[in-house]
Amino acid sequence: MPTVVVVAESCFGNTQQVARAIAERIAGAGATVDVVAAADAPARLRADLVLVGVPTHNMGLPSAASRAQAAGRGAGPAQPGVREWAERVEAVDGRVVTFATRTKGPFSGSGSKAAAAHLRRNGVAAERGQDFVVTGVGGPLAPGELDRAGDWGASLVGA
Ligand SMILES: Cc1cc2nc3c(=O)[nH]c(=O)nc-3n(C[C@H](O)[C@H](O)[C@H](O)COP(=O)(O)O)c2cc1C
Repeated sequence: MPTVVVVAESCFGNTQQVARAIAERIAGAGATVDVVAAADAPARLRADLVLVGVPTHNMGLPSAASRAQAAGRGAGPAQPGVREWAERVEAVDGRVVTFATRTKGPFSGSGSKAAAAHLRRNGVAAERGQDFVVTGVGGPLAPGELDRAGDWGASLVGA
């Protein structure tokens, strides 16, 4: 069975919940899965599948400034995230697919699209994956989104 690493950042915990739902489902299918915070993710990574998750901020990727805004709205303390990991990463060996959380609206943007673009700009051949909907800035996730995330993760490992 494949090896999978999920690298995620999360201010209010929703993207982390999605990461865990994906990991649990993939592990249930027999794969070896690690979930690591983007702040702790290594500069060299080897796995069959690397999933990279972010919250959508300002229609794109979180930055130090947007994370500080989130902290001001009650999120946990700001930490470096996927933006910074992409900038310090040296080598990722494996298929890389992004995911994100976002609110539902005409001007939501897509963290998964922004993360894939930023990783590619930094030399990582990432594919854009899925965005999962939160019902408000602090969450919770919309009904059914954790199941959808698990199903999506399973589909990526052919389970
Ligand atoms: C500073 C800031 C900017 C945001 N901008 C957007 C946005 O442009 N589009 C959107 O859909 N959601 C936006 N959101 C809502 C986030 O997507 C939401 O907080 C996130 O999905 C929750 O995930 P988390 O719990 O992992 O942080 C923003 C949130 C913050 C704090």
